Amino acid sequence: MHTLSYESKASKPLSTVEMEKLLEEARANNNKQDITGCLIYYMGTFMQVLEGEKEIIEALYAKIKKDERHTNVQMFSNDSIDLRTFPNWGMAYYPIDQNNTSKAEFEQFKRNLMLLSDLTFPNNPTALTFWKRMKFLISSPPDIF
Ligand SMILES: Cc1cc2nc3c(=O)[nH]c(=O)nc-3n(C[C@H](O)[C@H](O)[C@H](O)COP(=O)(O)O)c2cc1C
Repeated sequence: MHTLSYESKASKPLSTVEMEKLLEEARANNNKQDITGCLIYYMGTFMQVLEGEKEIIEALYAKIKKDERHTNVQMFSNDSIDLRTFPNWGMAYYPIDQNNTSKAEFEQFKRNLMLLSDLTFPNNPTALTFWKRMKFLISSPPDIF
């Protein structure tokens, strides 16, 4: 099996409805192809980790890279793996955006992600790097509060 992780920038702010559509499509496809992972949307930045059979993951990543809903797609880690870190998640999704976020919600978002990173027992360098980068990303709160 294979895993990879990337970061990208949303081309434009995605509405909740647009994001739900993206996720619905992604989860249906991932389910069919036995792909698992996690997607984080943080103030215009996406971070995603994908897990599954190598050819399937590489084909999906090639497709995702061309998706016009985001740009600057940069893979930061990939590994061959024996075990999944997100076995039960077709695509876990954690969004936060300044348009609809209060300070309390932001703090809750951070707590949820920290909890999730503690619960997933990252067992490969890609998953470890994913959580490390996530913590760095959310360590400086946006200057909107
Ligand atoms: C940030 C982001 C994450 C995505 N994640 C997935 C995913 O996990 N699985 C998936 O099938 N498509 C995902 N997509 C959508 C794909 O780029 C593509 O639109 C989708 O697979 C449908 O492709 P098709 O029209 O060729 O079937 C994602 C798109 C973006 C912008």
